[in-house]
Amino acid sequence: MLVSAKEMLTKAKAGKYAVGQFNINNLEWTKAILQTAQELNSPVILGVSEGAGKYMCGYKTVAQMVKAMVEELNITVPVALHLDHGSYEGAKKCIEAGFSSIMFDGSHYPIEENIEKTKELVATCNELGLSLEAEVGSIGGEEDGVVGMGECADPNECKMIADLGVTMLAAGIGNIHGVYPANWPGLRFDVLAAIEEKVGDMPLVLHGGTGIPDDMIQKAISLGVAKINVNTECQLVFAEATRKYIEAGKDQQGKGFDPRKLLAPGAEAIKAKVKEKMELFGSVNKA
Ligand code: 13P
Repeated sequence: MLVSAKEMLTKAKAGKYAVGQFNINNLEWTKAILQTAQELNSPVILGVSEGAGKYMCGYKTVAQMVKAMVEELNITVPVALHLDHGSYEGAKKCIEAGFSSIMFDGSHYPIEENIEKTKELVATCNELGLSLEAEVGSIGGEEDGVVGMGECADPNECKMIADLGVTMLAAGIGNIHGVYPANWPGLRFDVLAAIEEKVGDMPLVLHGGTGIPDDMIQKAISLGVAKINVNTECQLVFAEATRKYIEAGKDQQGKGFDPRKLLAPGAEAIKAKVKEKMELFGSVNKA
């Protein structure tokens, strides 16, 4: 069964640790992440971007696959299936498809429109028992073709959105999706502290978890971050492990690679990466 992210994030915020959101792209990734969460007795959030949703044949396919996998693999730790950076229309589709958690990214709308649309989704999600993440201030970098300039969130706007009753809030604090440039000045902890002061118990979300130094991750958690999103790092280790396997030329025998064997090293690499992150975020044994 899938659960809303509300309880796991409330516990994480109170306990000063963070739950990882790991984005999925196919069956192998999903299985690797679920198995690692179970092995480490950690709650977990599976993130699905709109692009990944399309790639996996639509949100219904994703929701059914994840639900079936949780059952078939005997996963007993809390698992939330979460739409990542959803549009208003995407959010509605995922609610219908059976996702247990939604991110509505209205950060590109004027604040009034962001509030209006978020309000409507709060009502729907509350009624259905789903968690809802909202975003204020854009996250820098590129994701699924959308390029954010990475403006820092305004703490007063964060308070306005938090007061609408969302479950968790993503606030831009200089974080960037993907690999960080060499001249990246680091996270704006002054902005994070000002937001935390305004929003109180609301769990905060740190996007762009790839490549943020460990000490900054720990400091962000100490300042109220309870959910951290990781995508690119899993992609990088998956690609590297697959490349090495192909270069080693195993299983050729004149008939190419066995697809199950070909994807296995990538899945193992994802497991190791997820384990490393869960240990860093402090979510091990918090299921
Ligand atoms: P990275 O790709 O930088 O890990 O960011 C993931 C993310 O924030 C998904 O929303």
